[in-house]
Amino acid sequence: MKILLVNGPNLDMLGVREPAVYGSNTLADLEKLVVDYGASKGVSVECYQSNHEGCLIDKIHEAHTTYDGIVYNPGAHTHYSYALRDAVGGIDTPCVEVHISNVDAREAFRHISVIAPACVAQVKGRGFKGYCDAIDILLEGPRERLG
Ligand code: DQA
Repeated sequence: MKILLVNGPNLDMLGVREPAVYGSNTLADLEKLVVDYGASKGVSVECYQSNHEGCLIDKIHEAHTTYDGIVYNPGAHTHYSYALRDAVGGIDTPCVEVHISNVDAREAFRHISVIAPACVAQVKGRGFKGYCDAIDILLEGPRERLG
């Protein structure tokens, strides 16, 4: 199985940005954790991060033919990007949405995900480990979209 790990805007700043919320480990630490976890389960993981909506859309389109699943933290795009929701909803490749923090316990604008309905599952508030949980969900087999 081949999985695409996608991190959206500002997640390149992990380790620097709001460590009380996101921890002190970096994006490189996160990607290593997920690649190693995937390898332990026989899954190959390719990592991608961008701060640009169009680049993220292009990468998700690519997953249509190239990957068996997507593990995706859309960052703030979660709360307003219908373009990314349509990108995820427009391909058959199953996508699990991940948030490091517990978005439901934060500001009201973070309680809404416009992308989740196009995803097959959502993992929130489990720190970096949530990305590994997302791999497990994809390995469990096909699921309906949440929406
Ligand atoms: C986040 C939560 C979002 O609200 C925020 O904009 C992020 C990170 C998380 O992983 O907890 O950039 O997706």
